[in-house]
Amino acid sequence: MQNRLPPLPTSERAKQTEELMRNRETDVDRWREFDNLATQWDERAAMAAKLIGENQRVLDIGAGAMALGTLLPNNCTYTPADVVERCPSCQVVDLNKQQFPTGYYDWVTFLGVLEYVHDITWPLRKALNAASRLVVTYCANIGAATAGRRGLGWVNDYSKRDFEELLTSVGWKIESCSEVKRGPTNIQYMYSCIAHQRDDCIRQVSMKKVF
Ligand SMILES: C[S@@+](CC[C@H](N)C(=O)[O-])C[C@H]1O[C@@H](n2cnc3c(N)ncnc32)[C@H](O)[C@@H]1O
Repeated sequence: MQNRLPPLPTSERAKQTEELMRNRETDVDRWREFDNLATQWDERAAMAAKLIGENQRVLDIGAGAMALGTLLPNNCTYTPADVVERCPSCQVVDLNKQQFPTGYYDWVTFLGVLEYVHDITWPLRKALNAASRLVVTYCANIGAATAGRRGLGWVNDYSKRDFEELLTSVGWKIESCSEVKRGPTNIQYMYSCIAHQRDDCIRQVSMKKVF
């Protein structure tokens, strides 16, 4: 199997990232290059697959090489979505343009994608209308210089606590949190969540209060 290496931070990428942040854009040229989808990330997909049971409908946003689709338990259906058309059934969306895939699923997954999204509250909230279960990873800021994060193309800098507060505040209840990988500048966590406050439920509750 071809080994595609994970990225290393560079000052050139850090400058490009600052520009993307100013314009709230996505580095589509980077993501179009298949060689930029590291094979090492397949281990993360395997970890996510273990959280999902049989017979589940899964929407994988930021699907990349779509490793998750090959690792899911029996009788699951896999729908990839990405800013790049990864296969004919891939829903092409740019989260930075607030485009969200259509359809209803059992699970939404965001694996290694939210670090590249300027407003992560928006997709996390939209996901509540697409599924009642969520697997999400995030490389939490552990206080190292932000240049390192920008050098990898990451446009946001949440600590573990801030990311968890955000998940909870939009309406996800965290059921489990595992460490995926630890580096000198960040710790990557994987969360399994269940919807505890859907937008439509909130609307129904407030309607009941009005009438
Ligand atoms: C680091 S890769 C992770 C791929 C895969 N989830 C995995 O774990 O191997 C990030 C993926 O997110 C996609 N992506 C980046 N920015 C995006 C955006 N704004 N909207 C949708 N997809 C995006 C990229 O095209 C790429 O496939």
